Amino acid sequence: MVIVMAPEATQQDIEAIVGLVSRAGGDAFVSRGVNRTIIGLVGDIARFMNLNLGGMSGVAEVMRVSTPYKLVSRDHHPERSTVRVGNVPIGPGTITLIAGPCAVETPDQTLAAARMAQAAGATLLRGGAYKPRTSPYAFQGLGEAGLRILADVRAETGLPIVTEVVDAHDVELVASYADMLQVGTRNAQNFGLLQAVGSVGKPVMLKRGMSATIEEWLMAAEYIAQRGNLEIVLCERGIRTFETATRNTLDISAVPVVQRLAHLPVIVDPSHSGGRRDLVLPLTRAAIAVGADGVIIDVHPTPEQALCDGPQALVDGDLDELGRIVRELPPLMGRTLATGL
Ligand code: E4P
Ligand code: PEP
Repeated sequence: MVIVMAPEATQQDIEAIVGLVSRAGGDAFVSRGVNRTIIGLVGDIARFMNLNLGGMSGVAEVMRVSTPYKLVSRDHHPERSTVRVGNVPIGPGTITLIAGPCAVETPDQTLAAARMAQAAGATLLRGGAYKPRTSPYAFQGLGEAGLRILADVRAETGLPIVTEVVDAHDVELVASYADMLQVGTRNAQNFGLLQAVGSVGKPVMLKRGMSATIEEWLMAAEYIAQRGNLEIVLCERGIRTFETATRNTLDISAVPVVQRLAHLPVIVDPSHSGGRRDLVLPLTRAAIAVGADGVIIDVHPTPEQALCDGPQALVDGDLDELGRIVRELPPLMGRTLATGL
């Protein structure tokens, strides 16, 4: 059971609930978010039901949701949500193309990739300034210098920025540049980081952990939601399987499964899942056909020189076809390509 407190609830209101629940033999876990406090109750639900919690001072809503994830579930919020990044919607009715370089390397490379993304119809720019790498000897990203490049490219192109944060200590800094924070597959169950991004008041894209079940993924999203941030977009980016022909296996069925369980938008990353340029366009078609709310795609002006993930980056020659896919397929699904208008 979860109690959502009204924004004007006082400390006294919260303490009254915690006291009542504990006298009824239960435990109350208080989580203070940016705008709201949320209290999770553990114990005998039947006893809690007799406490008239909904009538207590400061209580906005009492949720008796049977799934372990509460705030992100469709039981709590039956309509599917739209998350806005700047003026760009991600949600039902549209397909949002997010594209850009895997890593920010130089100002010229980032601007060139942003122009490529825009030419294909992207309305959000992706690009990592902090790169989570398997090897500590691999390029780790430019850090704040990379964020400054992204901000300059945003000023030049008008594209809002989606960029990854890998450490809870950097959340404020990354959020001061980013329009949307990305939590990647490797940090998808870094609970301190999830709580930190939940507290900073910016939309968050949460990728699926490469070995996470759908329930674990949704519980990770619940960590962000519990801090008062429901501006969350989920991204299916492939999972670890026995198959080695692709980098990861895109779990395409996760898209409709998650859309039924959670009200949050679900997008697909055809670049990191397949890990191969030749698979990106076919997987993009599959993502749109299955009902994804968007796709996030790596593009690079010179992938043979890329410092990260060159083999999966689309090149100039792929852009016409990418543009055709994101403009022509969505109407067949009752959607339109998202613009920033
Ligand atoms: C990408 O954006 C990641 O940083 C990348 O996929 C990491 O993979 P690697 O470090 O194993 O090359
Ligand atoms: C990325 O999109 O830059 C990234 C690191 O992806 P993932 O976390 O899915 O590997």
